[in-house]
Amino acid sequence: MEIDKELKEKITSAKKVAVLTGAGVSAESGVPTFRGADGLWKSFRAEELATPEAFRRDPKLIWEWYDWRRSLIAPLSPNAGHFAIAEMEKRFDDFLLITQNVDGLHEKAGSRKLLELHGNIWKTRCVDEHTVRENRQTPLKELPPLCGCGAILRPHIVWFGESLEPAVIQKAIKTSQECDLFIVAGTSALVQPAASLAGMAKEAGAFVIEVNIEKTPISSIVDVSYRGKSGEILPQLVV
Ligand code: OAD
Repeated sequence: MEIDKELKEKITSAKKVAVLTGAGVSAESGVPTFRGADGLWKSFRAEELATPEAFRRDPKLIWEWYDWRRSLIAPLSPNAGHFAIAEMEKRFDDFLLITQNVDGLHEKAGSRKLLELHGNIWKTRCVDEHTVRENRQTPLKELPPLCGCGAILRPHIVWFGESLEPAVIQKAIKTSQECDLFIVAGTSALVQPAASLAGMAKEAGAFVIEVNIEKTPISSIVDVSYRGKSGEILPQLVV
């Protein structure tokens, strides 16, 4: 991949930068994606595991699945793509990382200006009090885990059929529409509303760069689409 002078200039002259990431950015760390050949949704049915109805039906089963994913993610480390994004945050005063990932690897890599659109697998939420707490116990001692108030805790994750927190999605939209450089990496761009953010940024005048090993539905609308691994390409965008 060649970063030409013009692109370098686009990056270095940017004042407001937004980055949107998806599961592909964590793939090189060993976290399974959702829709790839070995993706989670190839072996598991999303509607049986990632919906509020499924949780109401069998909270223990849902927690067993999350407990398995937490155990899988716990020992993993961020990769060069995560570190490149953390470095970008230091280079631009006005920067926001918008992630669909729930694995916590961006934070582990040092990212602090971070908006987690779909929640975080290391947080629980009380179904009655709605209190969100960090919980890093792996494996969990009781399934389902309980809140101090006695109610069941759920994973602090946005499931299919649920809305994103209004303040969170509003901030993501506003940032996408106000930035002058938007980098979208490792997402299939199939899940809304995250999938629309790159298009919103482009329409509002941002220069949009995509990084993905495959072509996606947004590849044709972006300014530059790099076909390759985020762990290899993102570090080259830190110019
Ligand atoms: P997907 O699994 O749908 O897509 C992963 C994307 O990453 C694909 O487009 C791959 O081509 C690409 N990819 C894989 N390895 C890569 C690599 N090393 N470098 C660059 N790209 C790579 O994951 P998401 O788009 O994140 O929801 O999925 C969106 C949401 O759907 C997730 O947040 C999740 C899921 O259901 C929740 O957890 C709520």
